[in-house]
Amino acid sequence: MKILKATMLEKSFYNGAGNYIHAVNGVSFFLEQGEFLGLVGESGCGKSTVAGLVAGLLRPDKGKVILDERELQTAPYPKSVYRKLQMVFQNPQDSFDPHRTIGSSIIDIQRNFGVNKCDARKQMYRLLERAGLKPELAHRLPHQISGGECQRAAIARAISVSPKIIICDEITSALDVTVQAQITELLQSLREEMRLSVLFISHDLALVQGNCSRVLVMYNGKIVEEGPVREVMTQPKDSYTKLLLSSVFTV
Ligand SMILES: Nc1ncnc2c1ncn2[C@@H]1O[C@H](COP(=O)(O)OP(=O)(O)OP(=O)(O)O)[C@@H](O)[C@H]1O
Ligand SMILES: [Mg+2]
Repeated sequence: MKILKATMLEKSFYNGAGNYIHAVNGVSFFLEQGEFLGLVGESGCGKSTVAGLVAGLLRPDKGKVILDERELQTAPYPKSVYRKLQMVFQNPQDSFDPHRTIGSSIIDIQRNFGVNKCDARKQMYRLLERAGLKPELAHRLPHQISGGECQRAAIARAISVSPKIIICDEITSALDVTVQAQITELLQSLREEMRLSVLFISHDLALVQGNCSRVLVMYNGKIVEEGPVREVMTQPKDSYTKLLLSSVFTV
């Protein structure tokens, strides 16, 4: 079942010098339920813009986003959408309120969706444990825990509303290799347990290869190739994908 569809998304930004940058130029893709879909491409090709358009953080110039068979109104989305769709960002410390403890932030999002205080608190401890974190971390501020711990907490917060989709934009880029693997393992186990669909944006082709079943390759605002990850990585058809792969393997 296709849980999310994006059709012909377009987004331009004014570059401040009299020109527009066509950051996303006719991007269409789908995400199956329970799928771990990769989105790769060089810096500046438009990956985060696609994430922002799908997550309702940016308003598209053209195109549609369809979630669970229903076309979403243009951004900002109503709150109800975020019960189904959550996002995790590259720098977890920046995505938490610096003045609220980790536990309070995880309670807040549930309270926002109508969960009572007592249940939200119990659930917060369960979520921290599920994300592999000790309960005492609940009482610390974002800057008082490590980057890896904070990213686990961000995942705990994202799954606290039992979403169907998580959009992950370079969520492992600020972490060391061992922690990267732990974070993707956590996501994989949650995907299986909750039938979560994950859009995994990364410039790390090894991580994408190891985790995703399908991959989209983006270049200059467009998707230039897509397919099963093994096929795309071993028999790329597009010249840009070939270049991307050769640049990785020759480093
Ligand atoms: N708010 C903005 N205003 C102006 N230009 C922007 C804005 N956001 C993105 N851009 C431009 O749009 C293009 C795509 O940016 P985007 O952040 O989507 O790339 P990316 O693929 O996520 O790159 P990276 O891998 O470095 O994160 C870039 O040229 C960028 O400079
Ligand atoms: Mg980006």
